[in-house]
Amino acid sequence: MLTIDKLEAGYGKVQVLHGISIEVPKGKVVTLIGSNGAGKTTTMRAVSGMVKPTAGSITLTGKRIDGMESYTIARLGLAHSPEGRRVFATMSVTDNLTLGAFPRLTGSRPKGDVKADLERAMELFPRLKERRTQLAGTLSGGEQQMLAMARAVMLNPEIVLLDEPSMGLAPILVDEVFRIIARLKSEGVTMLLVEQFAAAALNVSDYGYVLENGRIAVHGPADKLKNDPAVRAAYLGGGH
Ligand SMILES: Nc1ncnc2c1ncn2[C@@H]1O[C@H](COP(=O)(O)OP(=O)(O)OP(=O)(O)O)[C@@H](O)[C@H]1O
Ligand SMILES: [Mg+2]
Repeated sequence: MLTIDKLEAGYGKVQVLHGISIEVPKGKVVTLIGSNGAGKTTTMRAVSGMVKPTAGSITLTGKRIDGMESYTIARLGLAHSPEGRRVFATMSVTDNLTLGAFPRLTGSRPKGDVKADLERAMELFPRLKERRTQLAGTLSGGEQQMLAMARAVMLNPEIVLLDEPSMGLAPILVDEVFRIIARLKSEGVTMLLVEQFAAAALNVSDYGYVLENGRIAVHGPADKLKNDPAVRAAYLGGGH
C-alpha cells in the first residue's frame, strides 16, 4: 500500500530524515514512535507532499508520489490529519466534512456517496453531529481535533495518516479517539499513526517503527515492540 524507501528530507539546509524505510501494508495499522523532534511529523509531511524529499522514494498503491503536489496525492486517496488543529474556522462542521471529500470528487477514484459518508462520519463522531451547524472555529480544542480526524475519513481514503490525534484531549476523549481508530481498523482502513500514548498506539497497531534522530532504530510487530525492554524503558513509561 504505502512504501517509504530510504527517504531523506528536511527543512532548508537542515536534514531531519536520514534514509528511513517504512512499509504500511493494506488494511494494517502501523505506528511511528519517537521522542519530540525525532522526525515523525516530518515523515508524514513528506508522505503527503508538504515537505519535498531530497532522496529516496515514496510509493502509494504502486505509484511514485514523492515530488508530487499535496492535492495530487490526496486525489490518489491519501488523507493526512495533521498535527495541531487544522480546521476551516469560519465554516460549519458539516461544510468542513464535505470539503474533506473534495479531492476524491475531482480525482479519478470512485466518487462514492458523499451524503452517506457524511452520515457515517457523524455517527462515528456523535459530538460533531450535535454541533454540525456550529462554526468550526467555535468548537473546543478537542472537538476541533475530532473534526480534523473525521475530515480525513471523509476522503474515503486508501490510507490515513494520523499525527497525534489525541493531542490536548481530556482522558475520556483520548479513549474515544483510540476506540475510533480501532473501529476504522476493523473496517479495513489502512493507517499510519503517530501518538504520544505509544503503548495505547501499539495496542491498536499491527506493526511499529521507532524513529531516533531521523533514523529507524528498531522495528517489528506491535506485540514484540511492546515487550522489548529498551523500547519499554524509553517510550512506554508514561502509559495511558
Ligand atoms: N518548518 C520547520 N522548519 C525548520 N525545522 C523544522 C520545521 N518543522 C520541524 N523542524 C525540525 O525538524 C525536526 C523534526 O521535527 P518533527 O516535527 O518532524 O518532529 P516530531 O517527531 O514530530 O516531534 P514531536 O513529537 O515533538 O511532534 C525538529 O528538530 C524540528 O525542530
Ligand atoms: Mg510531531
